[in-house]
Amino acid sequence: MNLAVFASGSGSNFEAIIEAINNGEVRGEIKLLVCDHPGAYAVKRAEKHGIPVFTAVLKTFASKAAFEEAVLAELRKHEVELVILAGFMRLIGPVLLSAYEQRILNIHPSLLPAFPGLDAIGQAFAAGVKVSGVTVHYVDAGMDTGPIIAQECVKIDESDTIEDLQRNIQRVEHQLYPQTIQQVIEQIKGSVHS
Ligand code: GAR
Repeated sequence: MNLAVFASGSGSNFEAIIEAINNGEVRGEIKLLVCDHPGAYAVKRAEKHGIPVFTAVLKTFASKAAFEEAVLAELRKHEVELVILAGFMRLIGPVLLSAYEQRILNIHPSLLPAFPGLDAIGQAFAAGVKVSGVTVHYVDAGMDTGPIIAQECVKIDESDTIEDLQRNIQRVEHQLYPQTIQQVIEQIKGSVHS
């Protein structure tokens, strides 16, 4: 299955997905990285792995719809079937949502619906919760909303710092996202054949 990953930052989840493809855990191919920040480390990771990059900076387009039309043209060019948001810090609008209905996944570092939006890890830490976690969900027009596909808990001990929590969450993300992507790929393949 042809995949595109959208990232805005470091791209550690992007890298985890690449690894999972290389070891056969995810049966797909990343055709394209879409990035909205030219200096993002995710771009370096893509270059290292020979993955084409489409960098699109929103403010250089006349509108959000024009930005998404440009992204959509790239996705079509690469025959992308499933879109994976991995730290893409932008809401997806109607152009992409209607072209990729039920075909856009997101990962978020909390047990949604708790702590949506920016800095979910900091929000959970500040709230003093004893359990947080990771959510993978289908994307809709909202901020970190949309049907939940998978969740995993991460315990927060009394002695944990925010850096500990960050590390523990990322460790879970790097396993849960590839597993869930493969599950969705199988589901799509099953529904196409039946
Ligand atoms: C990840 O923790 C991901 O869950 C989060 O951004 C981080 C990106 O890290 N996404 C969101 O907060 C979405 N609302 P990465 O660039 O190292 O993969």
